[in-house]
Amino acid sequence: MDISKKLVETHSLSKEECLELFSLFDVPESMEYIKEEAVKIRKKYYGTKVFTRGLIEFTNYCKNNCYYCGIRRDNRNIERYRLTEKEILDCCANGEKLGFRTFVLQGGEDPWYTEERIADIVRKIKKAHPDCAITLSVGEKSKETYQTWKKAGADRYLLRHETANEEHYHMLHPDSMYLSNRKKCLYELKELGYQVGAGFMVGSPGQTWEHLAEDLVFLQELQPQMVGIGPFIPHHDTRFANEKAGSVDLTLKLLSVLRLLLPKVLLPATTALGTLDPLGREKGLSAGANVVMPNLSPVENRKQYELYDNKICTGDEAAKCKNCLSARVRSAGYELVVDRGDYIG
Ligand code: SAM
Ligand code: FES
Repeated sequence: MDISKKLVETHSLSKEECLELFSLFDVPESMEYIKEEAVKIRKKYYGTKVFTRGLIEFTNYCKNNCYYCGIRRDNRNIERYRLTEKEILDCCANGEKLGFRTFVLQGGEDPWYTEERIADIVRKIKKAHPDCAITLSVGEKSKETYQTWKKAGADRYLLRHETANEEHYHMLHPDSMYLSNRKKCLYELKELGYQVGAGFMVGSPGQTWEHLAEDLVFLQELQPQMVGIGPFIPHHDTRFANEKAGSVDLTLKLLSVLRLLLPKVLLPATTALGTLDPLGREKGLSAGANVVMPNLSPVENRKQYELYDNKICTGDEAAKCKNCLSARVRSAGYELVVDRGDYIG
């Protein structure tokens, strides 16, 4: 059976088959077929709905030193900030008024935000917004900590695996970080009943086709409810400052493939995609994505959460971001809905 047909019919590919599929990436007819089928299956499960997540970047302090990341510990050239509990709750209140039913609390691995402090914030958000889902994205923690946050009311967790290949992981991260622990965290989060998001950067330095095939195999094993992929974009204060950015076109192709491998997955059209291409997010939706994540953080802090250069939407109020995205979603033929946007199981 032709490999693209196998993908469409069985929703599964081995590493070798992924590599075979990649060899079709510059065959326009094959890619057209994959994209069409991805959109078909996305419509089957989610119609024309696009879910929205209000992103609250609540701290840019980080104890880690990921080599690609603009807010890494050793970057002395950025001003660090932490939102207060009140500021976070204000972002949520504003978000609920704007129609958000999911809040994503994302930050560096900031030890000031202890297990108890985060649990407290989660409880307060849940109390004020019982109909909203809470997603945490604060890195690698113990199973006990994840459990405490689950009990406090957290529903989902985003932790990109970054790359499923040990050697490549080591190229992107310092010795203090291990792929095995990242994977362990993802499986523990799943066990605890979180809706889990993994993912990787497309075109990160040193990435090969083999690595991408291993990413797709790992995602099929993990079966996450969400997958975040976006192009790597260099940040001027990192060791990868002069590396090439990832490709928008390749990201779009991988979005379609992911939609077919994990048909019901929640798949964002990421800010990084919109940063490299003014129509990147619309193209992401047309390739099979079904989620957008506008920023709810206070405008005065947005520029300080610069993971990569020229990040978009750092100057606009939340309401403006939401309206802008709403129009973009419509122009791609979809509709932004007021909904928690849970995984459909
Ligand atoms: N600390 C949390 C963690 O490690 O999961 C969440 C914050 S971290 C900044 C969120 C994601 O940003 C990372 O998983 C990474 O894939 C992405 N990211 C960081 N630097 C990037 C870059 N230069 N280009 C594109 N994406 C980047
Ligand atoms: Fe910690 Fe990027 S190095 S968030």
